Amino acid sequence: MAGAIRKAVFPVAGLGTRFLPATRALPKELLPVLDRPLIDYAIAEAREAGIERLIFVTGLEANADMLKSHLNLPGDRRAVLEAKDPELGPALAAADLPPGVAVFVTQEEPLGLGHAVWCARELVGDEPFAVLLPDDLMDADPPAIGQLIGAHGTTGGNVVAVEEVSREDTARYGILDPGEVAGGLVEAKGLVEKPAPEDAPSTLGLIGRYVLLPGVFAELGRFERGAGGEIQLTDAMARMIGTAPFHGFKTLGRRYDCGTKAGLIAAQIGLALKDPALRGGVQENLRSAGREWE
Ligand code: G1P
Repeated sequence: MAGAIRKAVFPVAGLGTRFLPATRALPKELLPVLDRPLIDYAIAEAREAGIERLIFVTGLEANADMLKSHLNLPGDRRAVLEAKDPELGPALAAADLPPGVAVFVTQEEPLGLGHAVWCARELVGDEPFAVLLPDDLMDADPPAIGQLIGAHGTTGGNVVAVEEVSREDTARYGILDPGEVAGGLVEAKGLVEKPAPEDAPSTLGLIGRYVLLPGVFAELGRFERGAGGEIQLTDAMARMIGTAPFHGFKTLGRRYDCGTKAGLIAAQIGLALKDPALRGGVQENLRSAGREWE
């Protein structure tokens, strides 16, 4: 039976071109959703699921520096904030990640998601691990990656989160070719990265949460180019089917696709409407803006 998952990889080397000019200087993962940057949601999800080591695969050095400053507040910023309001001190300290939890590795060239995950191979070592794509904000209890880890505990092998997507959107996702279905588990017979709607083997889309066997690194290390000329994680995973169990798992909860403007805005509104302290004010603002559109 599968053991605990201790490590998670966060590919955060993207350039965030869809969000320009907001991302001219700011890494996409630091765009806010309510009062927290996007990355915080994925980190909290992993930590709640018991993951001990967070491996960030970063691109531009400037982006890595900003991310590090967010995860562990630099002393000069802390000093200025504490001088202004000494009561901020404990909250600022509590928000720092404990030493040793976060580790960083650089993806030297933007060769695709699969290549980014491959860059973490030495930090992961020879054990099953999780991958979380922070663009997919998962509002779920228990945490989505915890649900996958639970499924992996039952089935062993590789487990990837899936969700029904609309057929016209298959070219935005990795798509699973389904075999047997048992509850939320769907046996994977194949995986295809971003197929055209007419070529998609189903409408089960991969949604940015994975529990993978370390054997995926050997597949990624073949550096085969796939969709968009990139080294695709989906292709490496597809080649593992048949060598070990491989399942999709329909996670419970809501996903916001914060890789798109509409998804990021939906996350802001959806999470605000769940928060009793924000709900009334947001509803009122939307209502009065709505009256202007009519
Ligand atoms: C990546 C993966 C894709 C997956 C998607 C989920 O695509 O390559 O298989 O379905 O994330 O968000 P990207 O969104 O980076 O183009």
